[in-house]
Amino acid sequence: MDDLSVQQQINQLYDSGAASYDAEPGHGIGDAERDLWRAEIAVAVAVAVTARQRVLDVGSGTGILSQLFADWGCSVVGIDPSAEMVAQAHSKQASTLANPIIYLVGDTHKAEIFDEATFDLIVSRQVVCHFYDPLQAFRNWHRWLKPDGQVVVIDGLWSRTGWDDALVDHLPLSCLQTRATIAYLLEQSGFRMTHNDWLTQVNAYLKTADVAASPRYMIVAQKV
Ligand SMILES: C[S@@+](CC[C@H](N)C(=O)[O-])C[C@H]1O[C@@H](n2cnc3c(N)ncnc32)[C@H](O)[C@@H]1O
Repeated sequence: MDDLSVQQQINQLYDSGAASYDAEPGHGIGDAERDLWRAEIAVAVAVAVTARQRVLDVGSGTGILSQLFADWGCSVVGIDPSAEMVAQAHSKQASTLANPIIYLVGDTHKAEIFDEATFDLIVSRQVVCHFYDPLQAFRNWHRWLKPDGQVVVIDGLWSRTGWDDALVDHLPLSCLQTRATIAYLLEQSGFRMTHNDWLTQVNAYLKTADVAASPRYMIVAQKV
């Protein structure tokens, strides 16, 4: 299967599941869980949050992470190749929001979608496991970031059984059992690690909520 077909299959999966995404455990987050995510992310990206910076949410889906950063006063752009996920994100956005999020349909493997040095921070929750060419994606992020810009990658120790069998062997990060691989690839793409740890509060919550939880972790790295 070529890269385009792999991405098309992923897009179809998310287009067809967009309407129910927020109701799925481990995908959508309720109020109690949102507070935990907010607290853990805030510690790692305090600089970006306080400076009201320009943030790109890659694979923004229904806008869960974008909304957190918009609530902090950041200026947020979300991109996602699934038109239906983008439509869900638009429909959830309050028309009264002082600082509206811009949601675009787009694939992060395409370097031309943003200019060089556009963003202060690139964030991504449960997305990099879908990339057919992670190095290409991370090099694009490096290019789109301003000098000293940061990336925040949140992912989990997903098992092979959770994946579509036709896709899993085409996706290099689909079912990692180590926090080392994404960190290594970010380093190979010109980033310096500043944080790589479990999301302990979120993981404890997911366990008690009885979600078939793969432990989540967060990596923060800086452009060098
Ligand atoms: C598990 S969802 C996560 C959505 C959102 N980040 C969240 O936290 O709920 C994975 C998302 O990654 C998106 N995605 C898949 N391939 C992508 C790519 N090449 N570029 C950007 N986003 C992609 C999917 O369309 C989907 O919305």
